[in-house]
Amino acid sequence: MEKKRITFKVFRFNPAVDDLPHYESYVMEVKKDALVLDILNRIKWEFDGSFTYRRSCRHGICGSCSIRVNGKVVLSCKENVFELTDIFGDLLVLEPQNKQKVIKDMVIDRVDFWNKYTEVKPFLVAKYDEHPEVEARVSPDEASLMLDSDICIQCANCYSVCPSVRVNEKYYGPAAFVKAYRFIVDTRDHNKKERIDIINEPEKGVWDCVKCYKCAEVCPKGVNPIEKITLLHNQVFKEGRAKNNVATRHAIGFKKSIQKNGFLDEGFLVRYSEGIFGTMKHLREAFDMFRRGKIKMPWNMPSKPKKMNEIKQLIKVASKIECRRKW
Ligand code: SF4
Ligand code: SF4
Ligand code: FES
Repeated sequence: MEKKRITFKVFRFNPAVDDLPHYESYVMEVKKDALVLDILNRIKWEFDGSFTYRRSCRHGICGSCSIRVNGKVVLSCKENVFELTDIFGDLLVLEPQNKQKVIKDMVIDRVDFWNKYTEVKPFLVAKYDEHPEVEARVSPDEASLMLDSDICIQCANCYSVCPSVRVNEKYYGPAAFVKAYRFIVDTRDHNKKERIDIINEPEKGVWDCVKCYKCAEVCPKGVNPIEKITLLHNQVFKEGRAKNNVATRHAIGFKKSIQKNGFLDEGFLVRYSEGIFGTMKHLREAFDMFRRGKIKMPWNMPSKPKKMNEIKQLIKVASKIECRRKW
């Protein structure tokens, strides 16, 4: 089998002996089918028995083995080393998922992730007879509503790259919302209203998502958390639980602007979401955006598209999409 000589520059930190983290290099002959987890094992077994990392299943199920390779967050037991060298060359830098939370080497403290996960009640709440005579069945159609949210393995890849988590430590983060969604659509669950209120909380809830799609890019299971967050936004409106705040007005203003002009008027969107006083806070950004042509003044707005009726029809259809899903 094809082999390659690869250098691994590895983040090391042992708080018992090190004042600061440092990097150590290990050079290895690596076979074509080697996974990143094989390299972590070899570092421990062939070079330094004190090297510390998490792994359990080796099959992409337990979610414990995520690290970063050249900044890319990966599930070690799914990621082929040769494929990474195709992208990054023959020097691979192995680091923990989040260097600020390191306990030892690749092991990080995930307590914030698990606390938030627990807050969304990641379990079925159902009032069932303790001695039922029939099963509580979920039909294939009902199960399909979960949209793969049930295959999340809590690896925290999405959480570790989420910019909203970085700037707001209260924000639950994508994995917790995936779990909340999974139970909201579960036809056996009796806790839907409370779940909607949890994910609708200011600062913590879905309205602090900035829709960057990073969570979808890094999920090793293809769960697509932002898709679930968008459906939760819709559900908050549908259940009549939307509060009048900047985030919900932003969603409404976006639609209104397209409906009225056929394009997004950024100036209108800020005024609608934040009001006049809120808008004043953004004058410097507004000026920069104006200079770059992103914001237009009322007198030099582009004219409305000719096919306005078609645009209005598309908005109507898009607004009904969540209703076609049988929540
Ligand atoms: S789309 Fe939202 S939840 Fe996903 S990474 Fe970006 S801000 Fe976080
Ligand atoms: S949604 Fe994907 S990336 Fe996020 S915790 Fe679940 S499996 Fe990991
Ligand atoms: S070892 Fe379990 S997911 Fe990688």
